[in-house]
Amino acid sequence: MTKLEQIVAAESKLLLQTYDRNPLLFVGGEGVHLIDENGAKYLDLLSGIGVNALGYGHPAIERAIVNQSRALIHTSNLFYHEGQAELARRLTERTGMDRAFFSNTGTEAWEGALKLARAHTGQLRSEGKKIGTKFLALEQSFHGRTFGSMSTTYKAKYREPFAPGVPGVEFVKFNNVADLRAKFSDEVCAILVEAIQGEGGIRPLTQEFFAEARKLADTTGALLIVDEIQAGMGRTGKWCGYQHYGIKPDITTLAKPIAGGIPLGAILCTEEVARAIHAGMHGTTFGGGPLACAVAIAVIDEIETEGLLSHVADVGDYFQAGLRGLAENHGCIKDVRGKGLMLAAELDNADLAKQTVAEMLKRRIVINCTSDTVLRFLPPYVLERRHVTEAIKALDEIFTEKGSAVGAVDQFAGGNNLG
Ligand SMILES: Cc1ncc(COP(=O)(O)O)c(C=O)c1O
Repeated sequence: MTKLEQIVAAESKLLLQTYDRNPLLFVGGEGVHLIDENGAKYLDLLSGIGVNALGYGHPAIERAIVNQSRALIHTSNLFYHEGQAELARRLTERTGMDRAFFSNTGTEAWEGALKLARAHTGQLRSEGKKIGTKFLALEQSFHGRTFGSMSTTYKAKYREPFAPGVPGVEFVKFNNVADLRAKFSDEVCAILVEAIQGEGGIRPLTQEFFAEARKLADTTGALLIVDEIQAGMGRTGKWCGYQHYGIKPDITTLAKPIAGGIPLGAILCTEEVARAIHAGMHGTTFGGGPLACAVAIAVIDEIETEGLLSHVADVGDYFQAGLRGLAENHGCIKDVRGKGLMLAAELDNADLAKQTVAEMLKRRIVINCTSDTVLRFLPPYVLERRHVTEAIKALDEIFTEKGSAVGAVDQFAGGNNLG
């Protein structure tokens, strides 16, 4: 048995079978490439589902990990350490928010944001304001796997096996201003959006819908909460997706790329929201530990010193133009969407989308499919134009070969639409 076969056999007996993994064993990485057990290099256009912003083996991350792990890895939140305020300063300055709370993952940040909204509502009610506790979330949204996050996530397959979820959530039709207006009232404590939906298929909010959500929330004191876990931290060419719209949320959440692969999430909020939270109301053992904070600081500094926001915008435009060029020649591409290096090509059928992911893997290029028909590209920010050219050429070959003739899905078609 090969090492991979041994691992597959062991996992099938020992792990909860929550993943339908691709049969590949990665053991290393270098820049924008992953390296498998045989030393073969794969161009990674997914970066661990939008996490490895600086790619693999980046010296700034390695340095931060080595230095901080020699000094101090964990203290708990009962004591001070050097990293949290430093990181909070960087994040609040770049996002227009006032205060931060650090968690370990995206879903935890989102849970905290929901709790913060309910606490804020409680505060307003104690001050005599009439406001309810309902959440308005969007169709096709994805906010994570824990109970609150799952309950504000749209797709039934993520919620129904675990029903009943958290009550008090209503879904609004995506980008439908009339539906938003109809469902909004003083019963609502927060409107929940992703500036660009990720798992839902890389779907940007319209300016009109986003502005209306802000306006409606302001009429009652409800909060606008923007989940930037996938779109945030530079992926779209700005620190946050909402900055493309000139709209400021009351709360935003970050995670995925924030610490370049070390688990970390953040809730950022305004001073007005922060006044609803007091000592003991929320907490975490690991969140915002010295190691994760040191790495996140290094990631932000590297993004800035290397000018990676404008690089992401430039390479992203080039990538998007390449996908649009493909769409002109291949009728199977229904739509091309996204911003910066958060991109999608929507195909006209799910089989072809699965096969394309599998064929790309055979050509040693990692991509992913979400919402059944959407090819999703979330590469490291250090991607270069030549890598894009390589990917577009591979996609062109695959669509030329398969675009009109869809056959059986083979063993590489794994990867359930996660994250
Ligand atoms: C927009 C959004 N919110 C929340 C989450 C959940 O994050 P995590 O998987 O770190 O819990 C994800 C994960 O894909 C996401 O894309």
